[in-house]
Amino acid sequence: MRKKVLGVLVSGRGSNLQAIVDAINADRLVAKIGVVISDNPDANALRRIAGLDIPTAVVERKNYASKPEFEAAIIEQLDLHHVELVVLAGFMRILSPQFINRFPMRIMNIHPALLPSFPGLDAQAQALQYGVKVSGATVHFVDEGMDSGPIILQEAVPVEDDDTVTTLADRILHLEHRLYVRAVRLYCEGRIHISGRAVKILPPRQNS
Ligand code: GAR
Repeated sequence: MRKKVLGVLVSGRGSNLQAIVDAINADRLVAKIGVVISDNPDANALRRIAGLDIPTAVVERKNYASKPEFEAAIIEQLDLHHVELVVLAGFMRILSPQFINRFPMRIMNIHPALLPSFPGLDAQAQALQYGVKVSGATVHFVDEGMDSGPIILQEAVPVEDDDTVTTLADRILHLEHRLYVRAVRLYCEGRIHISGRAVKILPPRQNS
């Protein structure tokens, strides 16, 4: 199977990037990271992959006069590295419809809640504040809305009475790492079928 080329966009800690790198290195995911792009030169995500054979690019918003120019610079990097699937891994910027339409159903995001509940920032704090008894993680394709695109995978975790934002976020993060790798693998295996909003997971191909 030819390896699909991923472009991973990050802004900070990079633990989901790490999970993808680890899965590739352990042959649990057949894919190639074509480029990691960060909008933050100090992102820990960049430190995690320093010394690995993965191209990186820093594209800072402040170096561009407008959002379209900033996004054009990101697209240039994605094209340069022949990226087929854009993976948002803690990338803390909202992409414009123009960007999203350039990669239709080829941008994935992971969100630390069971969408459509608690979209946007601080999802774990939102869940605690609301008082839900289960939360979780969602991997979805990115559309023009806020965390509103077709859902690929979701899994739940319990919310405990004594949870803090930190303990709940940690529990969800463990799940995120597994779930994101699974979703990217399904994409790479050509097993994601999208019909309207509904994403169907196809059975494994006989020859793969
Ligand atoms: C993750 O919890 C991810 O779900 C969240 O940011 C964190 C990034 O962690 N993303 C969002 O909230 C997007 N709305 P990481 O940098 O360690 O992968």
